[in-house]
Amino acid sequence: MNIASVKLVYFSPTGTTKAVVQGIARGINHSTVELIDITLPDARKEPLKASEDELLVVAVPVYMGRVPALVMEWLQALQAHHTPAVCVVVYGNRVYDDALLELTNTVMEHGCLPVAGAAYIGEHSFSNAETPTAQGRPDEDDLRHAEMFGRTIREKLQSASSASRLSGVQVPGEYPYRGDPTLWTVDFIAVSDACSHCGVCAAVCPVGAIDADDCTVIDQERCITCCACIRKCPENARTMKPGLVKDASKRLHTLYQERKDPEYFV
Ligand SMILES: Cc1cc2nc3c(=O)[nH]c(=O)nc-3n(C[C@H](O)[C@H](O)[C@H](O)COP(=O)(O)O)c2cc1C
Ligand code: SF4
Ligand code: SF4
Repeated sequence: MNIASVKLVYFSPTGTTKAVVQGIARGINHSTVELIDITLPDARKEPLKASEDELLVVAVPVYMGRVPALVMEWLQALQAHHTPAVCVVVYGNRVYDDALLELTNTVMEHGCLPVAGAAYIGEHSFSNAETPTAQGRPDEDDLRHAEMFGRTIREKLQSASSASRLSGVQVPGEYPYRGDPTLWTVDFIAVSDACSHCGVCAAVCPVGAIDADDCTVIDQERCITCCACIRKCPENARTMKPGLVKDASKRLHTLYQERKDPEYFV
């Protein structure tokens, strides 16, 4: 079938999901590609629309084994009409549980025809120099895999005469979905004197939780503990305070060193 254009949508506070999506886009190698970054609040103000002759790729990080709640909320406004769709989850080398199934079911409920799915590994959001987990992922091998997956998607689409002839995809997971997607409400970020008041942290926060006039003030109810502000601070002035998140970082470092590999389903 002929695809007029490809829309690749991603939520990616620390950039690993974005890197995977870019790899998949290289593999799909279509002349008309639109990368839609929904990480920042303004980008989630508009609902997404997709038609039958477009391919939609939706990629999210796994939070607590699930699709991040704010992405689920945004996807409720998705308007698609028999749109072939590819769902991708990126997780921090622990587990992705039911996230891929949840994402796949959600886009299907809003008019998509899921034709492929994949799970990739990205450096864990809580990873740091002292307690690294999946450091440097996605690496070269992961990105080669992402390109191969992109080519596989293209071949599947080319082999069908129309969207209605495409076979659907089965992805792993259980329903009712396991686990609780509620995130911790926690005061976990320390800001040191190295802060130059540049405003980068407030600008990159996906939920606008940091006061633009005083970056030490964080709305803990809004914070999704994504660690984007810590990673992107140019002065390395933001670190984890002792407590829940730092303990989780240590635990992940101890328990999830064994390398997991990407998986795909077509
Ligand atoms: C609140 C939160 C919960 C997470 N839960 C999981 C999880 O259940 N399993 C896992 O393997 N990784 C988990 N991660 C790690 C992210 O899925 C992973 O680091 C991902 O690559 C981050 O994507 P990004 O770089 O696009 O932000 C979690 C991260 C955060 C911030
Ligand atoms: S990004 Fe770092 S240096 Fe810039 S305002 Fe935030 S804490 Fe300060
Ligand atoms: S304040 Fe919270 S939600 Fe905002 S960037 Fe930092 S960790 Fe992420």
